[in-house]
Amino acid sequence: MDGGEQSYWVHDDNLAVRVVAMRRDTNAAGDVFGGWVAAHMDLAASTTAEDRAGRKCATVAIDGLVFHRPMAVGDELNVYTRILKVGRTSMTIEVEAIRRIRRTAIRQKVTQGKFIFVALDDDGKPCAVDK
Ligand SMILES: CC(C)(COP(=O)(O)OP(=O)(O)OC[C@H]1O[C@@H](n2cnc3c(N)ncnc32)[C@H](O)[C@@H]1OP(=O)(O)O)[C@@H](O)C(=O)NCCC(=O)NCCS
Repeated sequence: MDGGEQSYWVHDDNLAVRVVAMRRDTNAAGDVFGGWVAAHMDLAASTTAEDRAGRKCATVAIDGLVFHRPMAVGDELNVYTRILKVGRTSMTIEVEAIRRIRRTAIRQKVTQGKFIFVALDDDGKPCAVDK
């Protein structure tokens, strides 16, 4: 599936994580694990959610995670986030992962999805997010 170009809202202000894929991040076939990319997306989204809520947050669901292209060792992964919706205790964070091919300016969308986080109180129970 071709994910097309990066979305209009993907720019430096929304950059949450930047990291380079290493050999240790590959599977038996030598490609970068999808789980490695997804973990960095989760990390990026959690930072955005916790900054918004000002508290610890937990991932409760991931919607529509689509892998458009593979990542190669040496590719730079750039993960961008934006808040789509704030509910009573939940926040929906749109996440887009873009690879930059090493030593080039070529950027391609790798993965996208919506990560839903719940703000937690000190007992680990859902608590309201300030509007
Ligand atoms: C997050 C957690 C505390 C939520 O508890 P819960 O009893 O399901 O909470 P609630 O039913 O009150 O729902 C809380 C919010 O999450 C939303 N939510 C719950 N399940 C959801 C789902 N599958 N998809 C989308 N939103 C969901 C609810 O709509 C609600 O949002 P709102 O308050 O903005 O209206 C609990 O599910 C949990 O601890 N899960 C494990 C989290 C975790 O460990 N994540 C890392 C996995 S490795």
